[in-house]
Amino acid sequence: MSYDVIIIGAGPGGYVSAVRCAQLGLKTAIVEGRDTLGGTCLNVGCIPSKALLHATHQLHEAEHNFAKMGLKGKSPSVDWNQMKSYKDEVIGQNTGGIEFLMKKNKIDWLKGWASIPAAGQVKVGDDTYATKNIVIASGSVPSSLPGVAVDNDKGIVVDSTGALELPKIPKKMVVIGAGVIGLELGSVYARLGAEVTVVEYMDAVCPGMDKDVQRAFKKILEKQGLSFVMGAAVQGVETKGGKAKVSYQPKKGGDAEVIDADVVLVATGRKPYAEGLGLDTLGIKLTERGQIATDAKWATNVPGVYAIGDVIEGPMLAHKAEDEGMAVADVIAGKHGHVNYGVIPGVVYTTPEVATVGATEDALKAEGRNIKVGKFSFMGNGRAKAVGQADGFVKLIADKETDRVLGAAIIGPAAGDMIHEICVAMEFGASAEDIALTCHAHPTYSEAVREAALACGDGAIHA
Ligand code: NAI
Repeated sequence: MSYDVIIIGAGPGGYVSAVRCAQLGLKTAIVEGRDTLGGTCLNVGCIPSKALLHATHQLHEAEHNFAKMGLKGKSPSVDWNQMKSYKDEVIGQNTGGIEFLMKKNKIDWLKGWASIPAAGQVKVGDDTYATKNIVIASGSVPSSLPGVAVDNDKGIVVDSTGALELPKIPKKMVVIGAGVIGLELGSVYARLGAEVTVVEYMDAVCPGMDKDVQRAFKKILEKQGLSFVMGAAVQGVETKGGKAKVSYQPKKGGDAEVIDADVVLVATGRKPYAEGLGLDTLGIKLTERGQIATDAKWATNVPGVYAIGDVIEGPMLAHKAEDEGMAVADVIAGKHGHVNYGVIPGVVYTTPEVATVGATEDALKAEGRNIKVGKFSFMGNGRAKAVGQADGFVKLIADKETDRVLGAAIIGPAAGDMIHEICVAMEFGASAEDIALTCHAHPTYSEAVREAALACGDGAIHA
């Protein structure tokens, strides 16, 4: 059997690339060793965590916000096994959907784990397939922390995968790392009644994010019951009798401290995954950080072998991988293939959501750029008040002379959806005035984006 393209890995990067390759008339196969398609994102990442975030958000609303809206009575009790079944059903619908897409587009699913014996060959099990092109989309895995042994089966020290399958809701949970995973899954368990303490090495949550958002975000999460130990490096976790002791060293000095926990979630980042592919033998070059090195068209140093997604450099985000998947398909089909890395949104799916795109105020100032910042609080947004979610703001950054939009950060209701208005504006090189002059339906959260754009000019109306 021979192919035009074999894609290794059926996560968002791989399966999207496969569909695009097939649409472009290339004979395509995808290799996946998991029992279901969709990779980390659909099986143990983005999708299951969103199902749990949704379910626990409903609980939080019932417990904290129903009574004031005149919805009285007993709050729902939690059936944790049923909640996990709901999550599994959502996973099943999504992974099944990808299988359907593969069939619809006549893409062969080669079941098993791939290796690349030589350029132009992919081996899966005992079979070797010939192919003109190979796209490595093998993704990433949680990175380990020295002194911390993750054992998802025991359910005491877990990573993001184990945190989706805990046998019971812990009373005390310590989350190591105040990044996206730590805050999303920490929120889930806090809403389920766990006492959640997040230990973070840096002095702010979500390192690299807009500073105003970091401050507001942490305050809101504290209001929701999460506790933070900032500026503290976790050095080890000991387990004994079904419990854990997390020891950390405060950065400012002093003695190491210890916190007890029933469950410890290690959320200190992810690393590229390319085990068993045979990259060494093939002579594929890696970056200093262990990512597969590629050129601007996702080609590795071995002709006919490309790589995309978490296994190469750039943010480890499903949508970045998808964009690269489509673009590399275009390149293989002889078309242009383009990803605008300056306009890749980042979203944290807590309540409120946090969404960012483009450059931060600090980064632009550090570059010496002349900028203006328009900020608008959801307190001035009628819709946000009507649904009791007026915490947060939209911050829009534009070039002071040209008014061109350079970036944005939103913390507030549906921020992850609203950010795309700004993405489109940036893609088109729009000015803040372009957004300000665009009629926005009332009452919507999106009016806050327009108000932030107005604040870049003569001023917001409802501020
Ligand atoms: P992250 O890189 O976002 O955050 C890890 C945090 O751990 C950092 O704040 C770091 O300072 C801290 N840390 C590292 N070592 C530490 C130590 N010894 N003690 C205390 N703190 C320590 O990584 P995370 O949250 O694990 O996510 C991994 C990847 O998955 C990220 O690239 C993220 O973008 C992606 N992801 C994206 C989601 C989304 O888009 N909503 C959801 C989940 C994951």
